[in-house]
This record gives sequence, C-alpha cells and structure tokens, in this order.
Amino acid sequence: MKLPVHRWFRYSAGFSAEWVNSEILKYQEETGNKAIVLEPFTGSGTTNISADSLKVKSYGFEGHPFIARIAKAKQLWDTSILDFDEAGKATLNYAMSIKSDTKIDRYKNDNLLGKCYSLESFEKLDRLKRAYEKLSTTEPVWELIRLNITSILRACSHVGTAQWQYVLPNKSKSKVLDPFEAFSGKLELMKSDMLHAVSSGWESCSKIEHQDVRRPFLTEKCNLLISSPPYPNNYDYADATRLEMMFWGEINGWGDLKEVVRPSLMRSCSQHSAADKIDLDEYISNPLLSPIKDEIADVTKQLDVIRHTKGGKKTYHTMIAAYFLDLAQTWVNLRNNMDKGSKICFVIGDSAPYGIHVPAERWLGDLALAAGFSEYSFEKLRDRNVKWKNRTHTVPLHEGRLWIKG
Ligand SMILES: C[S@@+](CC[C@H](N)C(=O)[O-])C[C@H]1O[C@@H](n2cnc3c(N)ncnc32)[C@H](O)[C@@H]1O
Repeated sequence: MKLPVHRWFRYSAGFSAEWVNSEILKYQEETGNKAIVLEPFTGSGTTNISADSLKVKSYGFEGHPFIARIAKAKQLWDTSILDFDEAGKATLNYAMSIKSDTKIDRYKNDNLLGKCYSLESFEKLDRLKRAYEKLSTTEPVWELIRLNITSILRACSHVGTAQWQYVLPNKSKSKVLDPFEAFSGKLELMKSDMLHAVSSGWESCSKIEHQDVRRPFLTEKCNLLISSPPYPNNYDYADATRLEMMFWGEINGWGDLKEVVRPSLMRSCSQHSAADKIDLDEYISNPLLSPIKDEIADVTKQLDVIRHTKGGKKTYHTMIAAYFLDLAQTWVNLRNNMDKGSKICFVIGDSAPYGIHVPAERWLGDLALAAGFSEYSFEKLRDRNVKWKNRTHTVPLHEGRLWIKG
C-alpha cells in the first residue's frame, strides 16, 4: 500500500508488487524472452500494474465484477492528469453545493450502512455519489473519480476492517476522515501517482477483463503466469466489498451476493457450496479430479462425518470437492493460453477445515500435470497456524509458491 497506483485501493493482494517486478525481470534475464504475463485471478491488479511499470504486456482476469472494475480503473493511470483534476474538482464543488437528500436518514434502517456511518459522514458521501452520477460521462476519467469515492469509504467510517477486508461493525476506530477532505486528499495522491508513472516511463500495456476463468477464455500465448488464487480456506471474496457495493446500490444486502457476485467466483467458501446443490459422488468421479480421486474422496468423507459433530455443520466436504474441480477446470483453460515451456507461479496456502488437512499445493500441482504441464515444485515461504492459542484446530499449515513448468 506504499507504491504508486497500487495504493489506490486496499485489497488482499496475496503478494507484493516488488516481488512481481523481480520475477518478471528474472524471467526475462533467464530466458532472454520478453515476458507476456497472464494473471487469471487479478484481484485489484497488482501483477498487471507491475507489468505496466516494466513496459511488459499482460492479461488479467477477475471474476468478481466489482473488483474487476476497480482493477480496470487502476489501469487508467495514463489518463490526462489535467482532465482528472478538472473532473475531481467539479465533483467536489458540485457535492459541496447541493443539499442533502431529504430522505437521507433512511440509510440508518440498513443493517450495514447504518452501523458504519454517522449521519454527517453518510450525507457527505451521498453528495459525492450524487455529484458523480450527475456529472459523469463515458470518458475514462470518470472511472477514476468513481474509484476515488469507492476507495475512501472505509476511511470515512468509524467501524473497523478486518485483515481480509471484512467490515467489523462492532469494532470502532478513532481516526475517521471527513469525506470531502478524504476525496480531495485522494485526488492529490492519485494525481501525483499518475505523474510518477508517466515520468518513470511506464507503459499502458495490460488488458484486464471481468471473466470467470473456469470458463474458456483466449489471449495470445503467454509465457509467464504470476497469480494467487483463492485458498480452500472458507474466505468469502464475494463479501469483501459488500459495503462498497451497497453504497453504490449494486446490492441491497448479503443475500444479493449470491446472484450478483458468486456465480463467477471459484467455490472456496462453504456459503458458496451448499450440500443440496452438489452431488459429492458425481464431483469426485469427474475425470478432471482423477489424479487426486482417492485422496479427495477420503478427505471429503471425513469432513462429511465430522461436520455432524459440529454446531455449524458447515459444508466443507462439498466446498473442497467444488474448489478442486473448479481449479482443475481452470488449469485446462490456462494450458490453452500458456506457451510450451512457460513458467507459472501460484502463491497458495493449504487449509484444515474442521482440523482435516487439505494438501492444496500438492493437489493443485497434480491437477496441473494432468492438464498438460510438465513439472511442479513447492517453495515454502511461511508457516501458519503454529501458535495454537484461540485456534479452532492445531494442524500446522503453510503458505508458499507453487512453481509449475511446461
Ligand atoms: C488472492 S486474490 C488475488 C489478489 C491479487 N493478487 C491482487 O493483486 O489483488 C484471488 C482473486 O481471485 C478472484 N476469483 C475468484 N474466483 C474467480 C474466478 N472464477 N475467475 C477469476 N477470478 C476469480 C477473487 O475474486 C480474488 O480477487
């Protein structure tokens, strides 16, 4: 969150932009080839923005519609700074000049927005939104204005945000920004980052799309892939931007995530893999899972038994089956877009739902081989869950880089 353009929106990136830069340069040095980078889980666009900073062509795909729009907006760092400044000032002046919506206090009835904002803050944010809605055109600069407003929503709320971006309505924080000041501060920061990018010779050569990578997609052949897919750890990406989507009126509540966001996301959380919708036996016998069939059958069976002893009865058994089937399908699509002899890195961690270990990196490696890649190895970066206090289980976990070649 310190680097220009990368810092425009806080998201759980999975790795640093500096590391991506070093991997792209290393690849080019080692092979003598100009890298063409693929990022199938682009999130907020760390890999693609890094590639732009090195004048390297890249493709990014992101299944979450709201996050994909943010990544695409960050890509607009080469928009005219003057136009951006003008649009930003017009938005602020308009917002300051209009009256508050007479029905504004209705937001209090909303479970999340009502808990997250004081009337004064929400009223100013709403005026910024109405100014954007009034003034915006299809010119790219307005996507940057929208990103500015989206990116200040957390800082203008008195409630906390958990490490992985879930809102914590019951935890308050002391530093809360005034929306107009936050907007104008962000405008200056974005302008200075845009100037930095242009004067450092960045080149806008990334293409980012909203795309579910479990479905076929086509790019030119790429030779380097740098990514961090969702982990099989019950994290709900659909929920990561619930506050922001509610603010913009894209959803009315948690229930809407199911229709608006989840359909194009990997099934990596139990809310997204209801047992009544998934025939476990059919999933396990899918030929795409054949390399790990016996092991995944055993793990999912254990999970199905243990869940009946737990209060939540979470459907981790179907979650694990759906997750690996989704990734097996993704490997097939990636194989089609990666050149022979290419290099791939997935930053990934294992998991242990209800204390049953799921060896994610090994299973993902085996599935990649089945899709036609030639070898894999795992480089452990850190241990996780080794301090047992307050943990739900005591299985030691790790996180690292899954390297795949072929
Ligand atoms: C660990 S995050 C990647 C973050 C990224 N490195 C960044 O710079 O922000 C994984 C991403 O995969 C996305 N994702 C999940 N399912 C997907 C799918 N089926 N197709 C494409 N992207 C998906 C999630 O929405 C999430 O943004």
